[in-house]
Amino acid sequence: MAYNLLNGKKGIIFGALNDKSIAWKVAERAYEEGAVFTLSNTPVALRLGTLNELAEKTGAKVLPADATSNQDVENVILKSMEMLGGKVDFILHSIGMSPNVRKGLPYDNLSYDFFLKTLDISALSFHKILLMARKHDAINEWGSVVALTYIAAQRTLVGYNDMADAKALLESIARSFGYIYGRDKKIRINTVSQSPTMTTAGSGIKGIESLFDFTERMSPLGNATAEECAGYVVTLFSDLTRKVTMQNLYHDGGFSSMAMSQRAISQYEKSFEECD
Ligand SMILES: NC(=O)c1ccc[n+]([C@@H]2O[C@H](COP(=O)([O-])OP(=O)(O)OC[C@H]3O[C@@H](n4cnc5c(N)ncnc54)[C@H](O)[C@@H]3O)[C@@H](O)[C@H]2O)c1
Repeated sequence: MAYNLLNGKKGIIFGALNDKSIAWKVAERAYEEGAVFTLSNTPVALRLGTLNELAEKTGAKVLPADATSNQDVENVILKSMEMLGGKVDFILHSIGMSPNVRKGLPYDNLSYDFFLKTLDISALSFHKILLMARKHDAINEWGSVVALTYIAAQRTLVGYNDMADAKALLESIARSFGYIYGRDKKIRINTVSQSPTMTTAGSGIKGIESLFDFTERMSPLGNATAEECAGYVVTLFSDLTRKVTMQNLYHDGGFSSMAMSQRAISQYEKSFEECD
């Protein structure tokens, strides 16, 4: 059901790769709620993914960009304003990648070159987008910027590797720029900490299936899906959340407040029965 929450709003959505992507679901939902927007991803992602399908469906234009490149990011900001006929009201950062995770290098034996790439792609890209948007005064007053993050920024999770450090940095950038943008332009910046989700990036995490099952059992409301995440992000882009800023907002069915649940303990006990 649509509520016209984003009627008349313009935006930029970074990070939709295929129909599993969280950014894809946000784009679909934003379109249903009345928004117009541009879509951006890397040239490789445009070749390997199915972004054009989403663009056709939502009437969006696609702008290729490697989000680690200042020039590419600037181009997306400027072209988006040109195509959408003015400043935007929302930006989604839904970008993440760790070459260490991809190559299976563990945290205690990682490549520092890869580590720097992880930070550049998954966190500094957010800084670059915010910096370029500020340079060109690209976001309307009371606009909203959201980046997606994960609880590994606060708690240690086996296998999440250097992405945990990248997410901690991403969340810190949201607060640091949140102050500046809020003070000067009444623009809010938040991160949404989402449940494990079976996307291309999600599937790259070591042991994702067991993790998914564990968090499902631990969360009183169960894992949040990508579609549910999109609904939440749309509320953050809407005018209903104008005083929410500099927050890391958990969208995880309650997982972040749990220590042990009945469903998880039952499964744990069963594993002992199997051993006996
Ligand atoms: N899937 C999960 O379990 C989960 C949980 C919490 C948070 N997140 C976060 O959600 C966000 C979106 O991930 P997803 O799960 O939808 O997976 P996804 O693989 O669909 O999206 C990741 C996107 O990052 C893009 N990307 C990678 N390098 C880039 C670069 N240099 N420049 C621009 N874009 C680049 C990819 O092309 C892809 O579109 C990420 O920040 C991820 O860390 C995911």
